[in-house]
Amino acid sequence: MAVLDILHYPDPRLKQTSVPVESFDEALRMFVADLEETMRAGPGGVGIAAPQVGRFERIVIIDVSSKPKIKQHGRLVLINPEILAWEGMVKGREGCMSVPDFTGNVIRAESVRLSAQDEQGDSREFEMEGFEARAVQHEIDHLDGLLFLDRLVSKRHDLFRRKAGK
Ligand code: CO
Repeated sequence: MAVLDILHYPDPRLKQTSVPVESFDEALRMFVADLEETMRAGPGGVGIAAPQVGRFERIVIIDVSSKPKIKQHGRLVLINPEILAWEGMVKGREGCMSVPDFTGNVIRAESVRLSAQDEQGDSREFEMEGFEARAVQHEIDHLDGLLFLDRLVSKRHDLFRRKAGK
């Protein structure tokens, strides 16, 4: 396993649209293991998308289990994820390993229903809400070449520089 290099804004490759995964083979599972190690090596570490390490395939990992007392599914590898339904809207603060110096306020659906495949290619559906729903919407955005910076409520009032060392 290996910690992979993260692309940082304004790298134009972060704007690329990723393609669906077609082969669910050992190479995919090895890449997912590296992607997960990379996520866990970063600060925050609640989600990562394959294009953030320069692999333009529709693969995301989320794990919000470090946040106590919220509804969540634990570690999830979501391949070819697709949001099927959105409900509610809520503004919240986001950060991103590809935008290390800033956080920002973004409006997301409060809850979502989605389908995705696992590393074996089996399809599942999930209902997510709150912080987990926010995390999955953020990561799926990466697959379509979008960063939270593209969705700031106000560029002037909703972008915040991180304090040094945090
Ligand atoms: Co991100």
